[in-house]
Amino acid sequence: MARLQPLHRARRFFRTLLTGAPEPSEAEWAEGWLTEREWVLFSRMRPADRSHSIAVARAVEAHLAPEGTPQRWVIAAALLHDVGKTVPDLGTYGRVVATISGSVGGADMADVWADTTGFTRKVGLYLKYPELGADLLAVAGSDDRVVAWAREHHLPEEDWTVPAEEGRLLAAADDGRL
Ligand SMILES: [Fe+2]
Ligand SMILES: [Fe+2]
Repeated sequence: MARLQPLHRARRFFRTLLTGAPEPSEAEWAEGWLTEREWVLFSRMRPADRSHSIAVARAVEAHLAPEGTPQRWVIAAALLHDVGKTVPDLGTYGRVVATISGSVGGADMADVWADTTGFTRKVGLYLKYPELGADLLAVAGSDDRVVAWAREHHLPEEDWTVPAEEGRLLAAADDGRL
């Protein structure tokens, strides 16, 4: 059995590489920080988004480790900040188009496109994903700060309502600066 372990590990490694899905043990760790309803929302994210969110939350946890166990809302905010991306359910190609459209069309176009139909509607919704994520989390009864961070995580610091210290930490982890 012991000799099978490296193969096991290799399989897991390649599965993560191919699908972008988090390790089962990492998913379990994330579940431990979330309410049941938050976990349902988290589970609807694409595998690569789940892995990204766990990486952000782990970075925050590691940074706060010297001060003890982090506050639950901070880790939940890290795990759920991109949850609005589940709404339009665009594939990778669509996201690239949506991101480029956002920089070409400007943020104002998001509302216009969201009111249309078909692909432009999906692009519009994608550009609005922070807002959509905040709505999902509010309906799920999440902590106000978790809801706020989903809405605010791409806004400049002066527009945040979350505590600045935690916001800076969450933003740094999201940008890979931790
Ligand atoms: Fe984001
Ligand atoms: Fe993110």
